Amino acid sequence: MDPYLNDWISLLLRFLHVVTAIAWIGASFYFIWLDNTLQTPPKWKQDKGVSGDLWAIHGGGFYEVAKYRLAPEQIPDTLHWFKWEAYSTWITGFLLLILIYYIGADAYLIDPNKVDLSQTTAILISLTTLAGGWVIYEAACRSPLIQSGLGFGLVMLVLLTLLAWGLDHIFSDRAAYLHIGALIGTCMAANVLTVIMPSQRALVAAVEKGETPDPRFGLNAKRRSVHNNYATLPVLFIMLSNHYPMTYGHEYGWLVLGCIILITAWARHFFNLRHQGVVKPWILISAFVAFAALAWVLMPQSTAQNTTTERLSDRQAIALIKDKCASCHSQSPSDDVFTVAPAGVTYDTEQEILNWLPRIQARVIMSKDMPFMNKTQMTELQRSQLADWIANKLP
Ligand code: HEC
Repeated sequence: MDPYLNDWISLLLRFLHVVTAIAWIGASFYFIWLDNTLQTPPKWKQDKGVSGDLWAIHGGGFYEVAKYRLAPEQIPDTLHWFKWEAYSTWITGFLLLILIYYIGADAYLIDPNKVDLSQTTAILISLTTLAGGWVIYEAACRSPLIQSGLGFGLVMLVLLTLLAWGLDHIFSDRAAYLHIGALIGTCMAANVLTVIMPSQRALVAAVEKGETPDPRFGLNAKRRSVHNNYATLPVLFIMLSNHYPMTYGHEYGWLVLGCIILITAWARHFFNLRHQGVVKPWILISAFVAFAALAWVLMPQSTAQNTTTERLSDRQAIALIKDKCASCHSQSPSDDVFTVAPAGVTYDTEQEILNWLPRIQARVIMSKDMPFMNKTQMTELQRSQLADWIANKLP
């Protein structure tokens, strides 16, 4: 595809994906908050079947919200459903996956240094991961495991971490991460489509027939929306981490991912408890401490100073960077895949290279994820020579 067109489609899809995700997650946060904040209503409301009462003020108006124990006697003419936020988030996300990781499989999905997959095989593995992962989640939801919220969460955490480990051996680091995020997102959207919506339809149908709705419908839907709620922060964090190579690019990136899921779900727990009036600040504090500890543990070891060879001269170093990087990072790249300078970064002139030294240090010496998938085959010796040269150049 024409790279210019590709970028615009990518920008549009990403924009829509973020906007719909905000709407979806915003609604999820709001309703969990609502549910946890409801108070016992006065007697006259209880007599009408109302079990939860809430008053709020927003945008210059008062709102009175009532939650029915089961259902109102009559279904009102207008009943608002919340599903398109979820569906459109998933659809735009899947389209982005196709555009970036399937059409662009050679660049982003396949890492020939790990497994030299064909595009078709790589795409099949990706689709199987998403579908198979969802089937396993669904099976777990129908097993006795579902009775224990904590147990269920821990089992999912272990399974996802193992899956990240497996994918890390097959796909590029970045793709391995993204697939975990995509799988969690898929399960969340599937929860809406296959459990929450049908439960709600059954609830409405029962009320319309004048029957007492089976409370199991409500319980089932509620459980899945709690799952979705705990998944929100992990999924957001995983999506953002794709811009930070010190996470996915780490040698134990899959383990880092497990830690991220644990820490972010734990942070979510603080808010869920708080809405119920239980304030345990140490949960949030410990999440921040764990986050800082993670950053500390992942800190790159100071690269061994180059003692074996002589320091590169400026001219040699610049030539090395041009040689290893300018096939992509140039006004006119020669790379077969990247025909436009990635991230707008170009190293055609000495001045450009000098301006970019701190970022070159970050990506080549610390996270070591440039050259991209080491496509231009920079050796360890060259890396340590550059490390030495840059360390001397930078103040
Ligand atoms: C095969 C193509 C390719 C080669 C070769 C390559 N890069 Fe990149 N580079 C990319 C892509 C794709 C991105 C954008 C995605 C990203 O940031 O990970 C990028 C982004 C960057 C960024 C901008 C993001 C940031 O962290 O500020 C820097 C800096 C960078 N590369 C440095 C280098 C250096 C230095 C080399 C040579 C040692 C190099 N790259 C070689 C493909 C390449």
